[in-house]
Amino acid sequence: MESPTAVIGGTGRLGRLITRRLLEQGGPVRVVGRSAGSARSAAPAAGAGLSYLRGDVREIESLVAPLAGCSAVVYSVEPGTADAGPDSPRATMYQGVLNLLGALGTARPHVVLISQIYVTRRGHSMNAYGRLLDWRLAGEDALRAADLPHTVIRPSWLTDHRAAGGRIRLEQGDLGDGKISRADVAEAAVQALHLPEGARTTFEMYNEPGPADPDWPLLLGALRRDEPAAVAR
Ligand SMILES: NC(=O)c1ccc[n+]([C@@H]2O[C@H](COP(=O)([O-])OP(=O)(O)OC[C@H]3O[C@@H](n4cnc5c(N)ncnc54)[C@H](OP(=O)(O)O)[C@@H]3O)[C@@H](O)[C@H]2O)c1
Repeated sequence: MESPTAVIGGTGRLGRLITRRLLEQGGPVRVVGRSAGSARSAAPAAGAGLSYLRGDVREIESLVAPLAGCSAVVYSVEPGTADAGPDSPRATMYQGVLNLLGALGTARPHVVLISQIYVTRRGHSMNAYGRLLDWRLAGEDALRAADLPHTVIRPSWLTDHRAAGGRIRLEQGDLGDGKISRADVAEAAVQALHLPEGARTTFEMYNEPGPADPDWPLLLGALRRDEPAAVAR
């Protein structure tokens, strides 16, 4: 049987869409969240190939069993906004990524990290909330420096519909601004796991006016690869 993909945050609005797409593709999925009970009520109905496991990114030991044997992991976690403590971006966006990497041990699954635009723009107002942007970038850097396949997706403002248009634009360099639908980000995460062009990349995502018929090998293939252990600014 195929190895499972763990979706940490698979109960969330984006995580549920990623989970659904992975299930449509036939792969087993483990939805990982802070409470297996609430996960069951929030995520798609349990069925063949879908399971729910408790895992909190702030507790390394809680991640070991949910991630064991997985060939891929998606990290789609809401950061919290406290300046310090368990609900801070430091705990969820940086230490959480370190905990994920630690819990994997010697396993080398492909990890897709959902980050955001603005992470390199330290003066942006979002950095006032627990230094959200700094810690998100530190988490990205930790993943890029790890010796495993990775994809860092930096969505612009998330929408439930294609509010800015149907076409998808991928960028690098973190200079833009705009909106992207959760469905398009979910598809990008799934495509990045399946296409070789998706590995070792960091990119921003936007919708713009135009047709919604993305050529994923072309979009992902046009991206610059992340250098090993380098910081993609
Ligand atoms: N909103 C935007 O415009 C925007 C833009 C760019 C990027 N993003 C990012 O995109 C990602 C997905 O966004 P969304 O709207 O889908 O978020 P969401 O609906 O709030 O879902 C977030 C998920 O995070 C999980 N979570 C929170 N703390 C956790 C922890 N300590 N351990 C494990 N899981 C935890 C929650 O699961 P449980 O409650 O089951 O634990 C939940 O499923 C987030 O990282 C968000 O910051 C958002």
